[in-house]
Amino acid sequence: MERIVIIGYMGSGKTTVGKALGKELGLPFYDLDWYIESRMRKKVSEIFAERGEEGFRLIERNMLHEVAEFEDVVISCGGGTPCFFDNMDYLNEQAKVVWLKATPEVLQRHLLMGKGDRPLIKGKAPDELIDFIRQQLQWREPYYSKARYTLDVSLMDNYEKIKITIDNLKQLLGK
Ligand code: S3P
Repeated sequence: MERIVIIGYMGSGKTTVGKALGKELGLPFYDLDWYIESRMRKKVSEIFAERGEEGFRLIERNMLHEVAEFEDVVISCGGGTPCFFDNMDYLNEQAKVVWLKATPEVLQRHLLMGKGDRPLIKGKAPDELIDFIRQQLQWREPYYSKARYTLDVSLMDNYEKIKITIDNLKQLLGK
């Protein structure tokens, strides 16, 4: 039985890498945010607007416990998932967890390029955004760093680099 979980900050490429890794290993891919949206029939941003972050974290935790029971899958989490409740310890018990690590500068660049609908950073100017990322990484990295595997993805911004990242990841996982 194989279960691989990808974690990391917003903009670290969890969905891109998770999807590509699943394809490479012949395993179905689940994105926790997408799973939440289909189960709740609401966008993550709507859940934030209606129930606040606290309400979202409760739903996220419950949905995590559903998805992380699936067997033979690759799963990507939301950026905050490992940092609430006992989610990180639970993930480590359930799966091979991989942290996609990147510098604040790279994350900022990806987030400014991306069109994702992310309530926590909505409307932030570039300077404000990088300060926010730095501040959040300070408290989030101790959680992320509990992952069994860490992959530095700071160089991953085009297709060739994604391919190299997947090859490195497979090697790290012994695949
Ligand atoms: C969040 C990250 C988002 C999503 C929500 C909160 C976070 O997922 O779960 O907006 O707290 O970092 P992505 O990391 O996939 O953007």
